[in-house]
Amino acid sequence: MRLLVTGGAGFIGANFVQQTVREHPDVQVTVLDALTYAGDEASLAPVADAVAFVQGDIADAEVVDRLVGAADAVVHFAAESHNDNSLHDPWPFVRTNVIGTFTLLEAVRRHGVRYHHISTDEVYGDLELDDPAKFTPETPYNPSSPYSSTKASSDLLVRAWVRSFGVQATISNCSNNYGPYQHVEKFIPRQITNLVDGVRPKLYGTGQNVRDWIHVEDHNTAVWAIVERGRIGETYLIGADGEVDNKTVVETLLELMGQPSDAYDLVSDRPGHDLRYAIDATRLREELGWAPRYSSFRDGLAATVDWYRANEAWWRPRKEATEARYAELGR
Ligand code: NAD
Ligand code: TYD
Repeated sequence: MRLLVTGGAGFIGANFVQQTVREHPDVQVTVLDALTYAGDEASLAPVADAVAFVQGDIADAEVVDRLVGAADAVVHFAAESHNDNSLHDPWPFVRTNVIGTFTLLEAVRRHGVRYHHISTDEVYGDLELDDPAKFTPETPYNPSSPYSSTKASSDLLVRAWVRSFGVQATISNCSNNYGPYQHVEKFIPRQITNLVDGVRPKLYGTGQNVRDWIHVEDHNTAVWAIVERGRIGETYLIGADGEVDNKTVVETLLELMGQPSDAYDLVSDRPGHDLRYAIDATRLREELGWAPRYSSFRDGLAATVDWYRANEAWWRPRKEATEARYAELGR
């Protein structure tokens, strides 16, 4: 199989490409990535010899048409992905997430290429803290931020291209990922690298917000299950029953990194901050037989702390600018 992976130099995409080279050696991977502030070719260094890398923009119809025309399947990870940035400047989110996805869909339509669309559970909005409900594939879309609304828009384009044009597509909506190669702007790597630097972790609001954490490797085994065995036109929710509130995440990191459990700061809340996400992954588990490899969030977090400690050369170049942006936001 000739596989085109967009956003393969980003956090989840790079882990996906590395896993693919390790576990699907018959697949020829080409990565298309614009190398925005969030992309880093160094994240592909361990597999650089096994992968073709093209620096380019998913909204560039010419490069997209050429690469899609030479592929059997596309897995589309490329996106602007950070909520805080989307509140500051929404335009790159509209351009990449909506127009970029449109550009890819038109190319897979022309060339009759299988397409898998990576999305987020944030398209469903949020749940109350004390609500036993979880998101299911039937939950109505109700996005809160420019990020999640542009992801929701892109999902709806995919559904329409399946129905109206017969595009051979699947969609997955995954919960919050953690693991190696995640940009230091995101919650978990930000706090780990702050602690390495002797800076106290920063919790938005009161730290009560809940995220449903999944190890990035588990997200990617689920994506492979869908690419190989998913039903065309179907949406699969990916999650590993990992609900934890932000305060508990920070307390666990403090403990793992040898600090007192109250050595964090509360900072101003994110506007429109979603309270809680939770995924019901029954369809994925029962229909495709998927199960996560990581059974303990604490163990996965400990491994992630070890990775950031051992790979300072990877994250250090981005740390100062990231914290300068947060300082402007007062967070
Ligand atoms: P990321 O920000 O780490 O990586 C995004 C990658 O896309 C970068 O390499 C960047 O250079 C590239 N990119 C951005 N704009 C581009 C463009 N116009 N053309 C080509 N490449 C471009 O993001 P991530 O966390 O790895 O997320 C990957 C995908 O997974 C996104 O679609 C995101 O919505 C989805 N997702 C993320 C999470 C999470 O917890 N991080 C959870 C569920 C779904
Ligand atoms: P984030 O990693 O930005 O992911 P998302 O917004 O997609 O869920 O944030 C995860 C949670 O952590 C979210 O509730 C916001 C919160 N958060 C903090 O409390 N402090 C921080 O420094 C950051 C970056 C996020």
